Amino acid sequence: MLRFESVRFCYEKNRPVLDDLSFTVENGESVGLIGANGAGKSTLIKLLLGLLSGEGRILVDELPVEKRNLPEIRRRVGVLLQSSDDQMFMPTVLEDVTFGPVNYGLSRDEAERRADEVLARLGIPELKHRHNHRLSGGEKRMAALATVLAMEPDVLLLDEPTNALDPYNRRLVIRTILSLPNTKLIASHDLDMILDTCTRVLLLSNGRLVADGPAEEILRDRALLEANRMELPLRFAR
Ligand SMILES: Nc1ncnc2c1ncn2[C@@H]1O[C@H](COP(=O)(O)OP(=O)(O)OP(=O)(O)O)[C@@H](O)[C@H]1O
Ligand SMILES: [Mg+2]
Repeated sequence: MLRFESVRFCYEKNRPVLDDLSFTVENGESVGLIGANGAGKSTLIKLLLGLLSGEGRILVDELPVEKRNLPEIRRRVGVLLQSSDDQMFMPTVLEDVTFGPVNYGLSRDEAERRADEVLARLGIPELKHRHNHRLSGGEKRMAALATVLAMEPDVLLLDEPTNALDPYNRRLVIRTILSLPNTKLIASHDLDMILDTCTRVLLLSNGRLVADGPAEEILRDRALLEANRMELPLRFAR
């Protein structure tokens, strides 16, 4: 479903942020992407969507991520960017949540019905007519997630989905993620959330894949985590 083949990427010449990266995510898998600040998680996600391009090959459903395939890839892959401000660009939540579905051919009424469903599912129906730029950080995070889910993508790429959320909304988002059958790649420092939602974990360090295995195994490995500037999930820390 998602495949990286010897991917290398530099923002600045000869300073690779991702290097020799190869892995495959199978259909229906939920994979956690972990690593210290600056490890390359968000860069990896942007490469998958073709927002950046580097060396090597990246495939989504056998389609190479290159210009001519981007419309199809973006239809199949929904991404929650690390910064909500990068994906909320309409004046109100409703306009943002219906923007994608209308663009892909739903009527306004159908799109609004879908928006209502998604907002209800995320417990934020009251945000429907709010102005995006007046939302709190956590409200904006929830609204941004609604825009992604309203597209009903096959693959979900979630960059720090629980950032800025209070414990109640965090729990709601975890439950929502668990209820979705999609293929998922979830980047986060919230290792307890990763434990709840992912069966497999990829650990990035300085742009290289240093571990790839069962979530429980990697997230219980204190030495491995500490060697890569991370700490055990809270539930294993005692
Ligand atoms: N536009 C850019 N130009 C130059 N360097 C960049 C740019 N964006 C990111 N970087 C650098 O690339 C590296 C990887 O950044 P990235 O955002 O992928 O890390 P991350 O793992 O998502 O970190 P975080 O946990 O803080 O979100 C960092 O060293 C960062 O400083
Ligand atoms: Mg990041």
